Amino acid sequence: TIASISAQEILDSRGNPTVRVHLSLDDGTRVSASVPSGASTGEHEAVELRDGDKSRYDGKGVLKAVANVNDKIAARLIGLNPARQAEIDALMLELDGTPNKARLGANAILGVSMAAARAAAQSARLPLYAYLGGPGATRLPVPMMNILNGGKHADNSVDFQEFMVMPIGAPTFAEALRYGAETFHTLKKILGRKGYVTSVGDEGGFAPNLKSNEEACEVIVEAILAAGYKPGRDIAIALDPAASSFYSDGIYSLAKSGQGKKTCDEMIALYGRWLDAFPIVSIEDGLDENDWSGFAKQTAAQGGRIQIVGDDVFVTNPDFVHRGIAEKTANAVLIKLNQIGTVSETIRTIGLCREAGWNFVISHRSGETEDTFMADFAVAMGGGQIKTGSACRSERIAKYNRLLEIEAELGKAAVFRSPLA
Ligand code: PGA
Ligand code: ZN
Repeated sequence: TIASISAQEILDSRGNPTVRVHLSLDDGTRVSASVPSGASTGEHEAVELRDGDKSRYDGKGVLKAVANVNDKIAARLIGLNPARQAEIDALMLELDGTPNKARLGANAILGVSMAAARAAAQSARLPLYAYLGGPGATRLPVPMMNILNGGKHADNSVDFQEFMVMPIGAPTFAEALRYGAETFHTLKKILGRKGYVTSVGDEGGFAPNLKSNEEACEVIVEAILAAGYKPGRDIAIALDPAASSFYSDGIYSLAKSGQGKKTCDEMIALYGRWLDAFPIVSIEDGLDENDWSGFAKQTAAQGGRIQIVGDDVFVTNPDFVHRGIAEKTANAVLIKLNQIGTVSETIRTIGLCREAGWNFVISHRSGETEDTFMADFAVAMGGGQIKTGSACRSERIAKYNRLLEIEAELGKAAVFRSPLA
C-alpha cells in the first residue's frame, strides 16, 4: 500500500518549473514521476496549475500544485493499493471536483497517477510496459522524429511547427532510430552547405530561416536520399502544422514565411498539393482546434491516403474523441497524458480509438523531462507510433534509449511493424 506521497518543483527542458512526485510503498518500493509541459497547448486541455506569482519564474512556479500533492492528495491516497489505478484516479478527480482539473491542477494529478502506476509495476517486479500492457505488450513504436522545427517551437521563418521523419520501412526499432538519426545528421550537413544555421528548436529539430514552408519538405527529402534511404519506402514524412497557432477569425496566416493568408479550403488544397509532391503519410492539426467541420472535410478528402491526426482538437479527452469518431473528424488521435491528466482517462481515450479502428500516437510535450514513462506507455498500448522529438537533446533521447532497452529485453518477442507502411 501507499506509504508516502510528496512532490517537488523541478525544471523542464525549457527551464520552466514542473512537478515531480515521489511515492513510496510500505514494501520499500520508491519511485518518482515527472510531468511534461506544452507550448502550443490546446485550448481545452486540462489545467496546468501555475502560481502566477510574478516574483518567481515570471509567474510559472508550480508550488501550489506541489502543495496540493503534499497536502490534499497525499492525505486521500495513503494506505491505498497502488495497483488500483482507476480508483486512485477517480478519487483525485472527485477531490478536484472541477471538469478540467483546475483546482488541484492536472500537473499535480498526473504526477501522482504516473507514480502510482510505476510503483505498482515495481512492486510486482514487472517492467512498466509489461505491467500496463500485459504479456502481449511486445510492439515497439515507429518513431516520428521532428527534425525540422518552426511555428511556436522556433524563432525562424517557418509557419508549420513540426516536420518529422518516420522510418516506416525499418526492420526493427533500433534500425528505425538509426535511419532517423542518420537523416538528422545528413540534414545538418545539407543545411550548413546551403548557408542555413543549424541550431535546434525545443524538440531538437533544426530551425533554419527557410525561404518557404515547402523548402522544409524539400531539404528533408534531400537528406533522406543523401543518407542512402528511399523516401516514402524506407522513410516517410509526417507533419504537425499545429494550425491553431497561426489561425484567427476564419483565416490561416502563414505570416512567419510571408506566404499569405488562407481559408480552410485553401489550406486543404495546399495539403493536397503537398501530398502529391512529397512522401507525406501523416498530417496532425492541419486545421484549427475549433474547426471541426474543416477537419472532417480534410479527412473526407485525404483520410483515405494519409493519417489525419487530431491533437489540439481532441486534447486526449474521451468525450472529444467520442464526438470525433461520430463526426469523422480525423482517423487518428495524438495521445498526451498531461492533456487529460490521469493514466486511466488516457487509457480510456485509447480504448475508443481501438474500437473505432483509429490509429493513435503516444506523444511527448515540447517541454519535457528525463522521465521515460511515455516510452513504456507506448509499448504497453501497442499502437505502433511514438512522437518524441529529434535525434538530439537528452530529454528526447531518454525516451528513445528506453525503447532500445525494451526492444533488447523483449528479444525475439519484439514486434516492429508500421501502421502506415
Ligand atoms: P506542445 O507541442 O507540446 O508545445 O503542445 C507538441 C504538439 O503540438 O504536438
Ligand atoms: Zn501537435
